[in-house]
Amino acid sequence: MSAADDLVIAVDGPAGSGKSTVCRGVAVKLGMRYLDTGAMYRAMTVSVLAAGVDVSDEAAVMAVAEQTVITSGTDPSDPGIWLGAIDVSESIRGSEVTAAVSAVSAVPGVRYRLVEIQRLQVQAARDAGVGIVVEGRDIGTVVLPDADLKVFLVADPVIRAERRALENSAEGHLEQAFIAATHEALRKRDAYDSGREISPLVKAADARVVDTTNLTLPEVIEQVCALAVGARQ
Ligand code: DC
Repeated sequence: MSAADDLVIAVDGPAGSGKSTVCRGVAVKLGMRYLDTGAMYRAMTVSVLAAGVDVSDEAAVMAVAEQTVITSGTDPSDPGIWLGAIDVSESIRGSEVTAAVSAVSAVPGVRYRLVEIQRLQVQAARDAGVGIVVEGRDIGTVVLPDADLKVFLVADPVIRAERRALENSAEGHLEQAFIAATHEALRKRDAYDSGREISPLVKAADARVVDTTNLTLPEVIEQVCALAVGARQ
């Protein structure tokens, strides 16, 4: 497969299923662009929090969203995300943002605005004759229902919590209590993302399920690349 392929791959799944690392790896390997839609909802949340708005006040969140300009890079080696001219790649990962992002992403107007940008970025890749891997929660169901390949990544909740806790642990060693707290935070966020009225996290009927529980990262990347090659034929 070459960089000229304009394949569109939609990858959805719950928090901690390995989406970002897998999607970036696949995009690098296949010479494709990469779009992290979760980073866009996180950037919107940074904007809402900076404005001092209560995230449960939909109208106020929407008023901020209308004024917010988000730019996301599509280079899988260094995607980057900006609010206006400010690089927010690091601040979008803060715990305050993670705690508030589900509420912000459940506001319909926020979704309409960001989905529009997401589709434009996919169109830009297509126009350039380059493929793109797009990750999120509603990509295969709502954003890109005609994607060439849809993948739904899953993993055992305890494994997901361990992976996420490891990412967030500065010292690289893990306390059992920290894993348990991470597990509970993921469970809550998944319940919110799967239970919301608009564009909930749900597997598309035609998505291929890849369970990453017992696979190494290179193995998952390999599986998704093999599915991509199959989708091209
Ligand atoms: O993938 P992530 O954890 O960075 O996503 C952050 C939040 O954004 C997630 O809890 C739900 C929301 N999200 C969404 O609603 N739709 C998407 N396509 C991507 C993310």
